[in-house]
Amino acid sequence: MSLTAPLVLGIESSCDETGVGIVRGTELLVNAVASSMEEHVRFGGVIPEIASRAHLDAFVPTLSAALKDAGVSLDEIDAIAVTSGPGLSGALMVGGSAAKALALATGKPLYAINHLVAHVGVGILDGGELPENLGALLVSGGHTEILQVNSLTDDVRLLGATIDDAAGEAYDKVARLLGLGYPGGPVIDRIAKEGDPKAIRFPRGLTLPKFIGTAEEPGKHRHDFSFSGLKTAVARCVEQYQNRGEEVPVADIAAGFQEAVVDVITSKAVRACQEHGLTNLMLGGGVAANSRLRELLAARCASAGITLRVPPRNLCTDNGAMVAALGAQLVAGGVSPTGLKFSTDSGQPVSLVSLVA
Ligand code: KG4
Ligand code: ZN
Repeated sequence: MSLTAPLVLGIESSCDETGVGIVRGTELLVNAVASSMEEHVRFGGVIPEIASRAHLDAFVPTLSAALKDAGVSLDEIDAIAVTSGPGLSGALMVGGSAAKALALATGKPLYAINHLVAHVGVGILDGGELPENLGALLVSGGHTEILQVNSLTDDVRLLGATIDDAAGEAYDKVARLLGLGYPGGPVIDRIAKEGDPKAIRFPRGLTLPKFIGTAEEPGKHRHDFSFSGLKTAVARCVEQYQNRGEEVPVADIAAGFQEAVVDVITSKAVRACQEHGLTNLMLGGGVAANSRLRELLAARCASAGITLRVPPRNLCTDNGAMVAALGAQLVAGGVSPTGLKFSTDSGQPVSLVSLVA
């Protein structure tokens, strides 16, 4: 196998996207994704059992489409990489089992890799190298983290994470409260533009001095997030209007909610970067599509001297190409494959970039 530009097949199934990507070194050949989002609409959020069954149905067609589009055969692949966690247990098991079966049938080396680090891995697909002093802000329906990326293949640290709901989950739950449907992010993003973000001020989670502390004596949740109190505040606010028999000002509530989410995310991300000497920040996850997040993050990064990188939208959301990209880096870095004897881990920490056999 070519160690400098290995041909790697990546498999992603940690949430509701079945992704198969193929990468040659740092070149993206194909990024095939099947989403089960439509099947979750009537429930207002991802139902793990439905997602798992959908992965089972979608895996083989998605794999076939990816190989066909890339014009490569399974024989030519140098290695297989699969997301082993974090994510939904049942969903991870479907991708993990499929990857093991493929590796067993083909005899190819198998890498069981970290989903969060893979989000950062897409950075190598445009330009080949990640910058030094790199931080990552990952915001999606399933996760909300700030990472310090010293080395993509063996030194990634978690600086902060949500202690309850993920940012996208908060969007989805608030959209449901406002009767706006699922997924909540895009519709709140749109409706918020018609509202006044200052009309109603919602709480900013984990921003009180007792949580933040100081740079010298950091509080326990200095870089962490919490969105469940905000969701409850929105629910109370809606109730108050309803109890008074008044019309609920949906656009103002959407705008005020969005401002609270985006204000906290951007200020915490910039503070974490500044305190850890991170001069580059990569944004990832489905919420990266949010127009206000992009606007405020760009402005705050610019004033703090931080260079912001936002990958194209289809590489921000969950996909197999990011898994293949990280897999290719592991192969090129001479990291040993995981092999077939591993268990998927819904709570896999970022310190485990790939599982050790
Ligand atoms: O990364 P992703 O596609 O997959 C999961 O984590 O499942 O992220 C989906 C999440 C959903 O919660 C959705 O509401 C949110 O990303 N999202 C947005 C926007 N577009 C998608 N949130 C805020 N603003 C948006 N424009
Ligand atoms: Zn993700």
